[in-house]
Amino acid sequence: MLRVISLLVLVAVFFIHACGPSVEREPPERPVEVLPLSAGKALYELHCVICHGNDGKLGLNDAGDLSVSELTLEERKAVIRDGVGVMIAYRRILSPAEIDAVARYTMKFKEEDTSEKLE
Ligand code: HEC
Repeated sequence: MLRVISLLVLVAVFFIHACGPSVEREPPERPVEVLPLSAGKALYELHCVICHGNDGKLGLNDAGDLSVSELTLEERKAVIRDGVGVMIAYRRILSPAEIDAVARYTMKFKEEDTSEKLE
């Protein structure tokens, strides 16, 4: 008898659980944090100016001129993350959100880019 009751309790618990509000478990697709462009500027001045210059045109050590670079935002993020030539990879130095912000900031060197205003 005791076994039947405990079995019933188990079944009841299962049903209560199954009918409860479903918990949202899907992770968000985009990185949750989007840093402002001003954060990208500060990071650029700290890490990138030395080779690329304030306007992206310095080209020290043959650093690509960022004001004429045809790379898309995603491609720039990949370069910053993984490095290229003498440019080091920043994946251990900058967080994904920081890489995103600094890459967005380098897009500003292209005159035609008006997608985002620097506050
Ligand atoms: C030690 C100097 C140095 C530093 C510091 C540096 N870069 Fe570079 N960067 C380079 C060089 C050199 C290249 C070109 C490499 C090649 O094409 O072989 C380059 C290429 C790039 C490119 C690709 C341009 C193109 O059109 O191919 C991007 C974007 C870029 N750098 C962004 C950044 C950002 C953002 C930072 C700071 C987080 C940074 N770099 C720091 C030297 C540097």
